[in-house]
Amino acid sequence: MGIRNMPWEEWIEVVDDQLLEYHAIRTGRITERKEKVVNTLPPRIGIPGGAFAAKELCYELAEYLSRRYPDTYRVTRHAPRPDDFGWYGDGQVKLITIFPVGVTYNLDVEDPMKVSALLVEDDLALMLEGADGRYYFQAGAIVVPGFWRMVDKIGLPLDEIHIRGAVPQYREKLHNSLARFFSRLPVDKPVIRNNYFFQNVRPIDDPARLASIDPDELAWSDSTNGDEDRFEQFTKEPSLEAQQSGKVLFQPPTPTDSVERIRLRTERQSLRRLPRSGAIAFTIRTYLFRVVDLAQEPGVPGRMASAIRSWPEDVAS
Ligand code: HEM
Repeated sequence: MGIRNMPWEEWIEVVDDQLLEYHAIRTGRITERKEKVVNTLPPRIGIPGGAFAAKELCYELAEYLSRRYPDTYRVTRHAPRPDDFGWYGDGQVKLITIFPVGVTYNLDVEDPMKVSALLVEDDLALMLEGADGRYYFQAGAIVVPGFWRMVDKIGLPLDEIHIRGAVPQYREKLHNSLARFFSRLPVDKPVIRNNYFFQNVRPIDDPARLASIDPDELAWSDSTNGDEDRFEQFTKEPSLEAQQSGKVLFQPPTPTDSVERIRLRTERQSLRRLPRSGAIAFTIRTYLFRVVDLAQEPGVPGRMASAIRSWPEDVAS
């Protein structure tokens, strides 16, 4: 599974000089795509709703961020009350300001999943245990996923999310260990993992690229995966219904003749169990690097080439 222990102070990484850019991209996406990118599901039979966990996550983030990055985040609190969400007996956070961005959110009244999404540079998923022991994706802010859409996954159990995404080697290697890992993850043992992909971006002089606040396609990898709103037509494992309707037009990524257009897309993912709701909070911070820049780093091109050569066939395709 490629996971390792995470020191608490590394839960959320805030890269100051990207905060403005990420915040602008994320705000624009939420305004435009609404519940397609931020959503909290109500309870269903045998599956808890996501609302309480979303609230807990939002307060956890406010507490963590204001203590870990006090120059960037400042909070105003209520007077302490029993059982509220303040840490170490402090009153519950009411307002949180992100100084470099110049915005303040009111935790008393705003949607906790949306506030969480705008406080950090990470995408967020809350997984809740159902009566059947499986973990369900019941609330999330998947704002800049690049190559998958929250609408296709929200409400699903963890194994379905991966199976429908045709994750290579999932059934053979990951399925059982992931289920065991989720049911046993203790509150005090958070973990992290990393992954990476490559994506194309539009040609450097493309007018659509030049006009965009997101020229490297952080939010959605248009140049690699096509139009976000037609993505179901591009999936590798189309549903029977889609196949029968003849609408499936899977096309592999457009090849590029220019290394200038290739980005390494790498995610830093963390997983921790929230103490009160018991939900597992999954965070995904995406970094994009120009491959031509990485090629300047001593030793990196050789290591990258060797990693790519070692991909099994199903990972490479
Ligand atoms: C220890 C926990 C997890 C492991 C080991 C794991 C493993 C993987 C792997 C190997 C992939 C293929 C790409 C990559 O290497 O990242 C993947 C993709 C994915 N994972 Fe996970 N995963 C974990 C947790 C989660 C959780 C909590 C979610 C909840 C939303 C999730 C959602 C996805 C999605 C949406 C994809 C993309 C599938 C697609 O392309 O449709 N994963 N995961």
